Amino acid sequence: MIKVAVNGAAGRMGRLIVKNVSEDGQLELVQAFDVSRIGEDAGEVAGVGKLGVAITSASDLEKLDADIVIDFSVPDGALNVLRAAKDKGVKAVVGTTGFTQEQKEEIEEISKDIPIVLSPNFSVGVNVFWKLIERAAELLKGYDVEIVEIHHRFKRDAPSGTALKAAEVIKRVIGERETVFGREGEALRGDEIGVFAVRGGDVVGEHTVYFIGMGERVEITHRAQSREAFSRGAIRAARWIAEVDKPGMYSMDDVLGL
Ligand SMILES: NC(=O)c1ccc[n+]([C@@H]2O[C@H](COP(=O)([O-])OP(=O)(O)OC[C@H]3O[C@@H](n4cnc5c(N)ncnc54)[C@H](O)[C@@H]3O)[C@@H](O)[C@H]2O)c1
Repeated sequence: MIKVAVNGAAGRMGRLIVKNVSEDGQLELVQAFDVSRIGEDAGEVAGVGKLGVAITSASDLEKLDADIVIDFSVPDGALNVLRAAKDKGVKAVVGTTGFTQEQKEEIEEISKDIPIVLSPNFSVGVNVFWKLIERAAELLKGYDVEIVEIHHRFKRDAPSGTALKAAEVIKRVIGERETVFGREGEALRGDEIGVFAVRGGDVVGEHTVYFIGMGERVEITHRAQSREAFSRGAIRAARWIAEVDKPGMYSMDDVLGL
C-alpha cells in the first residue's frame, strides 16, 4: 500500500481527498494535518466514518512520515509541508493555489530534491481545456483574448490559478503581452489579455476563454460540476508519482501523458 498524508485535511478539498484515499485500493491514509479540527478523526471529519487517523496540528509537521503527501491548504501551509517533505524524502502532490513568485521559486528549489506534482487544477477536463485553448490560440492569431472565471464566494485568491495558467498557455503561443485584471475608467483595449474573476455562492469553478475577432467569437468553456473532478485527479497524480523516483517538478500533463 502507498502511505498517504493529507495536509489541509479539514478543508473542502482535504476532506474529499481523505474520502477518495480511503476508497482507493492502492492508497492508505496514514496521517492528516490541519490547523483546525485537531485531534478529530480525519474520516469522521470527511464524513466517511472513523479511519483511526487523528488530525495532527500542522505545526507538528516534523512528524510527517508517509510515501506521499497531498496538500490542499493555503500557500504558507503548502510551503511548510514541502519543507518537511524535502527533509523526510516524501513525494508531494500540491493543489494549493495563490503562491507568490518567491514561494514558486522555493517550490522549484525543493523539487530538486523530491518529486512534486504541482497543478493549479487537477481535473482531467481542465488539463484538456488548456490543450484546446493552446490550439485555438495558434489558429486564431490576431483575435482578442479575454478570460473569465467564476468561483464560489469562499475562494481566497483571484484570479484563479487556472485562469492565470490559461493566460500563460496563450502567451506561450501568441507572445508576451500585458495581463489586465478587470478594467475601469479610460480603458481602451490594447494588445492585452483581459482576466476577470466573478465570485458568488457555491460555484465550483468555471473558466471561459474568449477569442474575439471582427464579426465572430469562439468561446471555450470548462465547468466543474463537483470538486471530485479535482480530488480524483489528485489521487491519480498520487498513484502516478508513487512510481517516480527522479526528483523534479511535474504537471498533470506528465500524469495524463498529454
Ligand atoms: N488544484 C486544484 O485542482 C484545486 C481545486 C480546488 C481548490 N484548490 C486550492 O486548494 C486550496 C484549498 O482549497 P479548499 O477549497 O479546500 O479551501 P478550504 O479553505 O476549504 O481548506 C483549506 C484547509 O487548509 C487549512 N489550513 C489553513 N492554514 C493551514 C496551514 N498553515 N497548514 C495546514 N493547513 C492549513 C484550513 O484550516 C482548511 O481546513 C486553495 O488554495 C484552492 O484554491 C485547488
